[in-house]
Amino acid sequence: MMKRTRHCNELSSADLGSEVVLAGWVQRRRDHGGLIFVDLRDREGITQVVFNPEVDKDIHQQAHVIRNEFVLCVRGKVERRPEGMVNPKLKTGEIEVLVSELEILNKAKTPPFVIEDRTEVSENIRLRYRYLDLRRPMLQENFILRHRAAALIRNYLNNHGFIDIETPMLTRSTPEGARDYLVPSRVNPGNFYALPQSPQLFKQLLMIAGMNRYYQIVKCFRDEDLRADRQPEFTQIDIEMSFVDEDDIMTLSEGMLETLFKEILNISIKRPFKRLTYQEATDRYGLDKPDLRFDLELKDVSDIVEGSQFKLFAGCVKKGGRVKAINAKGCIDFSRKEIDDLTKFVAVYRAKGLAWIKIKQDEWQSPIAKFFSEAEKQALSERLHMEPGDLIFFVADDIKVVNEALGQLRNHLGHKLNLVDNNRFEFCWVTHFPLLEYDEEEKRNVALHHPFTAPLPDDVDLLEKDPLAVCSRAYDIVLNGAEIGGGSIRIHQREVQERVFKALNIDRETYENKFGFLVEALEYGAPPHGGIAFGFDRLVMILCNKESIRDVIAFPKTQKATCLLTGAPEEVDKAQLKELSLKTRIVITD
Ligand code: AMO
Ligand code: AMP
Repeated sequence: MMKRTRHCNELSSADLGSEVVLAGWVQRRRDHGGLIFVDLRDREGITQVVFNPEVDKDIHQQAHVIRNEFVLCVRGKVERRPEGMVNPKLKTGEIEVLVSELEILNKAKTPPFVIEDRTEVSENIRLRYRYLDLRRPMLQENFILRHRAAALIRNYLNNHGFIDIETPMLTRSTPEGARDYLVPSRVNPGNFYALPQSPQLFKQLLMIAGMNRYYQIVKCFRDEDLRADRQPEFTQIDIEMSFVDEDDIMTLSEGMLETLFKEILNISIKRPFKRLTYQEATDRYGLDKPDLRFDLELKDVSDIVEGSQFKLFAGCVKKGGRVKAINAKGCIDFSRKEIDDLTKFVAVYRAKGLAWIKIKQDEWQSPIAKFFSEAEKQALSERLHMEPGDLIFFVADDIKVVNEALGQLRNHLGHKLNLVDNNRFEFCWVTHFPLLEYDEEEKRNVALHHPFTAPLPDDVDLLEKDPLAVCSRAYDIVLNGAEIGGGSIRIHQREVQERVFKALNIDRETYENKFGFLVEALEYGAPPHGGIAFGFDRLVMILCNKESIRDVIAFPKTQKATCLLTGAPEEVDKAQLKELSLKTRIVITD
């Protein structure tokens, strides 16, 4: 076999006359009378190679069998392309390689889709033949970028005194709010390991072990419903530090992101990042992950409509609900159908309706305008900065529904009205999350972050009196409306940890059983510590300007958590089950 000497994106006029060996895949073959042209592709790019019968009849003859995706190795001389044949779009567009020796290393069947960036084929076919899909330049670029990002992050953290330590994959449940993936143990019949939802407990134990600064770029596993930005296995940049507070972790994180965005996108991001409390974020934007690239803020008008003749609004406020509104500036021309569609949109977030007012020059056009007095109209007008041409939307419900529905409507309108500048990167920290929230389904208080997050020192005494009022030392980092990371200062005292378990209605026996090892470790000199984990896939997705994390994961799973390439998950044979002392009986319940 010939050995390649250059790659397919490096030759230029500077190399004219030199002999080179290239290897790669056939992007395209064109037969031009006597000459055969082949675009040869490797990871770096494309070079045109030429077969000329006048150079070698036999080789030219062999070149006739070449088809797309054949694997070739060619030796030849770098020549200038003839006048008019220069391709300025290609880095190697000025030259071509005149072939004097050809090795067909492998043939290829006709691929099920054309290996090009703009390929028109369903994602399922692409995932089924992912190794072909991954040959497309766009995907190759994504993975080169992903690799560079990981290298930059490692470098940054290494330079800041962090050490990379691996933590187990076969472990006990580490709760992050999802279901566990379980792995049966052969030698302990009936017992299961859980794959980690995150290395949370181990990184805390590493702090107790005196490791001071830890990081890991690590796989995490969560059995939850999948979306465009969620996979059952995904990668975190996981960080933990001792003797720190929130500011230390935020400063370190901002520095890491600053380096990443500078090196990869050549963008200087503004520091320090904005900080919003959870309360402020949800008040103004409805969501705890606000997209700060545009305004369109939510306004609470409960106090104004409380005494109005509009029973729906007044009644809602009397029952403890809220009425909030947003002003869609200049949207007076929205049609009935558009408003109906928006009403359906908010219904997905449980809003029971979407009241609206169109602000005309001298009157309000609206099914609900007649219910408001002049004074109420005046107050609404001021609160919402109404001007002729505006369209106001209202949702009345309990505060959670109002915020979620209007927050999502805000994002939707932001895109619909082209208010979102895709070249802007607006980071913010969201802080002061409630420690707990009431889970309607489980009918109990659950940790908003995870149960190891410290309460604010001033709130510790509320743990027993009013647990839902306790604020935590958790923070999320949000970029353009996506949660790219989250973390907290941890509980480092056994007594506080036990009080938090109690507030979560986790009884002693349960926590001793599940987390006894951590609680015990807290008694052997646990330093104050805290950390953060970034969703690496989400971060890379944003850096690549892609809509789905599947575009930055080499072998992703489908919405139904299957791998179309390997066929996982699969049934296992009886013998394997027997070894594991297992029997399956599938019970499907809804
Ligand atoms: P958290 O659960 O917030 O925190 O996870 C950290 C970040 O990981 C990303 N992420 C995901 N990405 C893709 N697919 C998923 N299914 C998925 N789930 C989460 C998000 C998220 O912000 N142990 C804590 C961190 C800490 O306290 O230090 C943790 O795991 O971008
Ligand atoms: P109705 O009296 O039911 O015809 O409702 C009058 C207007 O109020 C309609 O535009 C509804 O979409 C809207 N509406 C109904 N319920 C709510 C709600 N909970 N919040 C906001 N608007 C609502």
